[in-house]
Amino acid sequence: MVNDLTPTDRADAEAVEASLELAAERGGDLAPAVYARLFERQPEMQALFWRDGNGAIKGEMLAKVFEAILDFIGPRTYAHHLIETEVVTHEGYDVPRNVFSTFFGIVAEVVRETCGADWTPAMDAAWDRTLADLHHYVTQRGRVVPAPAPEPAGA
Ligand code: HEM
Repeated sequence: MVNDLTPTDRADAEAVEASLELAAERGGDLAPAVYARLFERQPEMQALFWRDGNGAIKGEMLAKVFEAILDFIGPRTYAHHLIETEVVTHEGYDVPRNVFSTFFGIVAEVVRETCGADWTPAMDAAWDRTLADLHHYVTQRGRVVPAPAPEPAGA
């Protein structure tokens, strides 16, 4: 697929990983902060979790999102395809595609705030680039450009 992006730069991956480790150490479970912000910004999303009486679905989903981000910035073995397919699966829950990018942005904000004074400019720049790359996979599905036909021999 020609719309596949190059993998995340090693230095960016290290900065994002360091921020996630720090946030996990400092903040523990980031789910309450992440979902509180999501529902503040996109109130219509709250009702879609009507089956989630005890927060287990939200917790499980955020855990999958963290795992996916780690794969995305690292080996990128599945995360870019997972994002493309979850966007489609979630249409069944009435989640609009653009909310995926909002959600990733909120995760970044909560990580940044939890890191506090230890958040670095390198982390900031690395997250910005990672969010832009994630946004690419959120939005590209359905408009993948086929690879150009090879030049005829001798041309
Ligand atoms: C890459 C991003 C995402 C991944 C990997 C993901 C993954 C998942 C998974 C695995 C579940 C099922 C959890 C379970 O039943 O234990 C789930 C459920 C759900 N997700 Fe996501 N999700 C993503 C983004 C989003 C976003 C941005 C929203 C917007 C609010 C959303 C809304 C929901 C809802 C409403 C459910 C509950 C469906 C139900 O009632 O069972 N997801 N998600």
